[in-house]
Amino acid sequence: MCGIVGYIGEEQAAPLLLTGLEKLEYRGYDSAGLCLNDNGALVVKKSKGKLEVLKNLTDDGKILHGTVGIGHTRWATHGEPSDVNAHPHLSESGRFAVVHNGIIENYIFLREMLMSRGLSFRSNTDTEVIAQLFEYYYKGDIMDTVIRVMSKLDGSYALGILCRDNPDEIIAVRKESPLIIGLGEKENYIASDIPAILDKTRNIYRLENNEIAVIKRDSVQIFNTDKMPVKKETEKIDWDIHAAEKDGYEHFMFKEIMEQPKAFLNTIHPHLKNGRVVLDEIHLSAEEIRSFRKINILACGSAYHVGVVAKYVFEKILRIPVEADLASEFRYRDPIVDDKTLTIVISQSGETADTKEAMKEAQRRGSHVIAIVNVLGSAIAKESDDVIYTMAGPEIAVATTKAYSTQLAVIYLMALYFGDLLGKISPEEYQIYLQELQTIPDKIQQILDNREQVQYLASRLFNAEDIFFIGRNIDYALSLEGSLKLKEISYIHSEAYAAGELKHGTISLIEKGTLVIALATHEELISKTRSNMVEVHSRGAYILCLTTEKHQDLKSVAQSTIFLPQTCDMMLPSLAVIPLQLFAYYVAALKGCDIDKPRNLAKSVTVE
Ligand code: F6R
Repeated sequence: MCGIVGYIGEEQAAPLLLTGLEKLEYRGYDSAGLCLNDNGALVVKKSKGKLEVLKNLTDDGKILHGTVGIGHTRWATHGEPSDVNAHPHLSESGRFAVVHNGIIENYIFLREMLMSRGLSFRSNTDTEVIAQLFEYYYKGDIMDTVIRVMSKLDGSYALGILCRDNPDEIIAVRKESPLIIGLGEKENYIASDIPAILDKTRNIYRLENNEIAVIKRDSVQIFNTDKMPVKKETEKIDWDIHAAEKDGYEHFMFKEIMEQPKAFLNTIHPHLKNGRVVLDEIHLSAEEIRSFRKINILACGSAYHVGVVAKYVFEKILRIPVEADLASEFRYRDPIVDDKTLTIVISQSGETADTKEAMKEAQRRGSHVIAIVNVLGSAIAKESDDVIYTMAGPEIAVATTKAYSTQLAVIYLMALYFGDLLGKISPEEYQIYLQELQTIPDKIQQILDNREQVQYLASRLFNAEDIFFIGRNIDYALSLEGSLKLKEISYIHSEAYAAGELKHGTISLIEKGTLVIALATHEELISKTRSNMVEVHSRGAYILCLTTEKHQDLKSVAQSTIFLPQTCDMMLPSLAVIPLQLFAYYVAALKGCDIDKPRNLAKSVTVE
């Protein structure tokens, strides 16, 4: 989604802002812009398209002068991607400039109100309404104006604001959309995300909802909407700088695929003590855990696919009904959830609007929420009842890989933890699973080391126009992820189907040469999936099968087969997903797609 950067200091701001925006490119955007305070005039340069266009327009920032500025990459919500809709937006007289992440839900009402009072608009955005509200309510006191404007806005916003009359400050405000302040020596920053400022400072403040920051070169003051100062603790970011850099790899996605053994290990390691799974983050007594009648899993996209795997895992081990729900659907279907329901929320960013709102809905209905989150201090992490962090490190590529893998790792930990606590697995089984869990990073590494086969298959198959992913049970859950990964980065149409369901309609789409990727890892159902493979092959399909080493016989049904190391069924998705990610990656690379920033997509979806 959109990105915000702001700088106030002693250096020329424009080149710094452009560098910061570059670091946010991964979030997805369609236009970009800068505004600098140049000797009391707010000067804006903005354009549709990639940052390269803005760089050319501003001669790499050199034509913009000033040591105070704000910058933005926009992902269109209201109004098409265009020069005029790009941020920053100026108020009518040019007194205020605003960059905005989020959505103003009542912007039509506000726009009409402002127009009826004589203000005119240049763009179709909701953000211009904010700039104009500043203009309309400003009577000389910026703090009063900010508070008044905030009281008029419904929706979500992180704002960077410049006022011509206050040339030595930036105002930053947030509600339901993340914003941080980077603290430097005689310089300070604002940013919507840490990578934008990581090479400048590691000390940050995180703004909370309804906080207002007044940022000068040598001070940052934070107030609430009663104008009372808010005391903040400085947070130190200990990310390795390389974690947010490509580090010699061509794409972040490939780098992140390769980081999975380490990410998986880093996620399970802190939770294994003296041969037991320890999840101290869960603040529930054994009695409370025993009282749950149902588990509800809420998430979007790939995180939802982890939820579907979890459904199979938890139901098998815990024998409790589990619903994996798309967060965007859950919110609006009057769900049956109460204090006897345990809710598990899964989110890499911890900022996904649908997931966050679904979580709140579950909490309103009395459900205890455990969140599985990657980004420290994110909204979901803060607002859930308990949080278990995945230790994937920063994930930059839009298509998730290592976050997915580490989310699965937490699911296995939870299955063992709850299974043991509820007496649903024997001590022997517990030990077997625990041993197996610790072998997963090496097995992932083994698959990565043998990636040439996947690369070769991608080179043979990348021209496919429609692809079906089929599987049963946990393999079906995996099909969903394999299909999404391929679609989002290679733009090839694909569908994930429960293998047994094909014959109820979709098999009519299978014709000579249709590529079917059959996932056959779930031991109990391999013979069933094999029959489905035969069915599609007899209708002309080309089958690429993923199975475990011991099922060499499947070679006789499939045209190509990838063999995975053996592990227990519930952990096989952690292995099987690797060739699927690699396949999507290599196909997208062969097609020349923009792998890290696929069209129309954004990394963190902070709008509904
Ligand atoms: C797909 C992908 C998305 C996210 C989804 C949820 O590769 O990355 O489908 O999984 O947008 O995002 P988070 O996990 O940040 O809530």
